[in-house]
Amino acid sequence: MLTKTLIAGSTALTLTAGLAAAQTVGFSQIGSESGWRAAETTVTRQQAEERGIDLKFSDAQQKQENQIAALRSFIAQGVDAILVAPVVATGWDAVLEEAKEAEIPVVLLDRMVDSDKELYLTAVGSDLVEEGRVAGKWLVDEVAGAECRVVELQGTTGSSPAIDRKKGFEEGIAGADNIEIVRSQTGDFTRARGKEVMESFLQAENGGKDICALYAHNDDMAVGAIQAIKEAGLKPGTDIKVVSIDAVPDIFLAMAAGEANATVELTPNMAGPAFDALAAYWKDGTMPEKFIQTESKLYTQADDPQAVYEQRKDLGY
Ligand code: AHR
Repeated sequence: MLTKTLIAGSTALTLTAGLAAAQTVGFSQIGSESGWRAAETTVTRQQAEERGIDLKFSDAQQKQENQIAALRSFIAQGVDAILVAPVVATGWDAVLEEAKEAEIPVVLLDRMVDSDKELYLTAVGSDLVEEGRVAGKWLVDEVAGAECRVVELQGTTGSSPAIDRKKGFEEGIAGADNIEIVRSQTGDFTRARGKEVMESFLQAENGGKDICALYAHNDDMAVGAIQAIKEAGLKPGTDIKVVSIDAVPDIFLAMAAGEANATVELTPNMAGPAFDALAAYWKDGTMPEKFIQTESKLYTQADDPQAVYEQRKDLGY
C-alpha cells in the first residue's frame, strides 16, 4: 500500500512510501455473460500478474448493486486504484464521489458512465458508436442496393455498448433506403437470450423468410441466433446475413463454416492501457487522457476465419 497526498488541491498523488510494496487494485467485473467478457477477465488477471499488481477481483453477476458494493469494499480496504466495467451507464455518481474523496483513482473499462468526467481518472475502451457504424456500412455494401429487412439483437438495456452500437448502426445505414430495421430487442449480450429472441423474430417474420440480415451487438448473441436460424430450416450467412461485434473465436468458426459474415473486433486487453496509465499516475501524478481508445477492426469471410480461429482459440475467450 502506498501513502497518498493531494497536490495543490488536484487529484494527483504523490508517493511517500517506497515503490517496493505491490500496488493493490480492485477490479469490479460485470459477470461472465459473453466469451469476450471471459477473455477480458483472463487478460486483466494476466496483465496484473505481469506487473506485480495484487488484483482483487469481484464478479457482480450482472447486477449494478453488486458493483457498487464491491467499489465500497475496495474503498474501505484502501486499494491503490479501482477498475470497473460498469454494467449500465447511469447511477454511479455517489460511489464515484466516495472514491474521489478517498483519493482512489478509478478507471472505467470497456463501458462508459454518464457521470462527470472529473469523478474518474480515465476510461479505456473502443469507439462503440463507430463499431456499430462499421457494421452498418458493411451491410450497405454487402446488399448493394437490394431490399433488406434487418433484425437487431441489442445488448444489455441501459449499457453504453447497447446504446452506442444501436446509434452507430443506424448512422451506418442512414441514406440506404433499401435497408430497414424491422425488429429490435435486447438479448442481454448472452448466447441463450440471443437464441430465444431470434426464435421470436423468426416466428414473427414469416418463419425468417422476410429477414435479410441480423445485426447483433455481440458475437455471443449472434452465435445463439445462428442456432435458431438453423433450427428454423434456414441457412445463416446465406438466407440471413449475420454481422456482429467482438471477434471472439466462435464467430470465426461460424464464419469459416459460412454461417456468419462479418464481425467488428473489440480487444479484450483493456487492462494493459489502464495499468500503464495508473503506473504513470502513481509515479509522478501524470494525468492520462480522459479516454484511451483501443483499436477496432472489421473481419469478413475474406480474412481466413479458420486461421484467425486457430490463433485465438487459446487466448482465454
Ligand atoms: O462492453 C463490451 C461488451 O460487453 C461486449 O461486446 C460484450 O460481449 C460484453 O458482454
